[in-house]
Amino acid sequence: MINNELLFDKLKEARKLSYSPYSHFSVGAVVLTKNGEFILGANIENAAYSLCLCAERNAIFQAYLKGYKKQDIELIGVFANSDDFVSPCGSCRQVMAELLSLDTKVYLYNSKGEFKALTVEQLIPFSFSGDFLK
Ligand code: THU
Repeated sequence: MINNELLFDKLKEARKLSYSPYSHFSVGAVVLTKNGEFILGANIENAAYSLCLCAERNAIFQAYLKGYKKQDIELIGVFANSDDFVSPCGSCRQVMAELLSLDTKVYLYNSKGEFKALTVEQLIPFSFSGDFLK
């Protein structure tokens, strides 16, 4: 069972790391590994807007840089200070499909700390994958 309160605390901590002077929309993401490590990510923006990197991708890339692979990852959480549950962009969904298992849960939080959990496959059905390249 996941500890939602602890995950939400980590998400708030992650969101504080956001560098978002252009959108002023700060997002935190946390990958929880099966061995219990919380890996933080936040969105990092750039004056050249197309170089902005979302919180989800930063957290997933950090996890891989620490040596974790999809089978080691329990879940990912995402949080923005929004009334609605934050919704990952298409690029992040495609990265999730590549680097997480399709049945890995993605916990989407709103500002009240309520969440909705969807699998990667629910977020990006019929995704493009390396299988097509064989
Ligand atoms: N952003 C994220 O980091 N994750 C999301 O799920 C949605 C959008 C970022 C990208 C950009 O820095 C800012 O939020 C506004 O789009």
